[in-house]
Amino acid sequence: MQLPTLDKFPRGVLGAIDIQRAFIVSRVIIAAERLQLFRKLHGKRMSAAAIGRALKIHEPYREPFLNSLVSLGLLHKSGDTYRNTCFADKYFITERSIFWTRQYSRECAEAYDTLTVLEQALTSGRSCASIKGLKKPGYVEAMRRDRRRAEDFTQMLFHFHHDDADALAKHLHLSQHRALLDAGGGSGVMSIALARANPHLRACLLDIAPVCRIAAGNIRRAGLSRRINTLSGDLEDKLPTGYDVILFCDIGAVSEQLLQNAYNSLPPGGLIVAVDRYLSDDGTKPLDRLVGSFAGSAVQLATRSDMVARLRSCGFQAVKARKVWRDLWCVTGRKPSSRASHKNNGRFYGITLVATRYR
Ligand SMILES: C[S@@+](CC[C@H](N)C(=O)[O-])C[C@H]1O[C@@H](n2cnc3c(N)ncnc32)[C@H](O)[C@@H]1O
Repeated sequence: MQLPTLDKFPRGVLGAIDIQRAFIVSRVIIAAERLQLFRKLHGKRMSAAAIGRALKIHEPYREPFLNSLVSLGLLHKSGDTYRNTCFADKYFITERSIFWTRQYSRECAEAYDTLTVLEQALTSGRSCASIKGLKKPGYVEAMRRDRRRAEDFTQMLFHFHHDDADALAKHLHLSQHRALLDAGGGSGVMSIALARANPHLRACLLDIAPVCRIAAGNIRRAGLSRRINTLSGDLEDKLPTGYDVILFCDIGAVSEQLLQNAYNSLPPGGLIVAVDRYLSDDGTKPLDRLVGSFAGSAVQLATRSDMVARLRSCGFQAVKARKVWRDLWCVTGRKPSSRASHKNNGRFYGITLVATRYR
């Protein structure tokens, strides 16, 4: 899936927006998305009055709002009617699920609110949320409390991570492995791609219960329920045994404690895989990860070198950081083998897999 990054906008439109006003322009687009204007206009033309009635936009705002979107190249205007441009249809409808529309636009609106006190945060060292007196639960807690939120977030990532999952499945060779634990596996998008690329592989997706329910539906629709199961639990607890690969994908900077838990539950020779858009070693990329941290993103930042050092300090060997594609990186390491455990490998997987599958 492609994001409507600024290079996709017509040059003439971008050239007219100065840096400070870009913030306002962006907020207008987010409002259009939150009101689901582009979805309402998909495949049809509507008058300003009809749009106003359908989306409950009051009369004095209607035309300036719609005309701003025309000026931005997102709507066409002819006489008194408006319709989506191809650009708006492609990036806001065809390539964007309703889950994405709901979740991402909500996150953006929250970020604008949080960022109003950015200077105070920078100069006081406090978080924007605490300055504003916001007692927001973290995203995992928010999903535990609200099923709709869990669905929006999880299915947004199912859609968004498709290309990353395919790239990872091409990059990571698991022919020597039999059982994968996808820790914090979310929608199942990674497990599904890895299971498709490795027909002998079985997988278990560990996540909180409301997310597991959604993942189970995705796995069933992918026709992989016999090879991928879900396990509801807490990542902070001891990880289950019986898996010779443990994957942490897009859960931010994996803590040393979590890596140590993974080390303890892997068999000798087992593989740890940490995948994310880690920061470059000089800390200057990727830009969206960096600026997201000001807006209260839950993602903890770590550089590729930080992750390599963390894996090594937990005892993993042959640790490598490799680029998967774009700015997605994969850090892998192996738990050292021992002769005694090699002998028992076959039986080890057989017994513990059964135990965890039916827990
Ligand atoms: C950003 S999502 C990534 C999902 C998936 N790995 C992917 O790449 O699409 C992070 C996932 O980790 C899960 N997670 C975070 N903390 C957790 C915890 N303490 N216990 C269980 N799951 C957790 C969240 O529920 C969420 O589904």
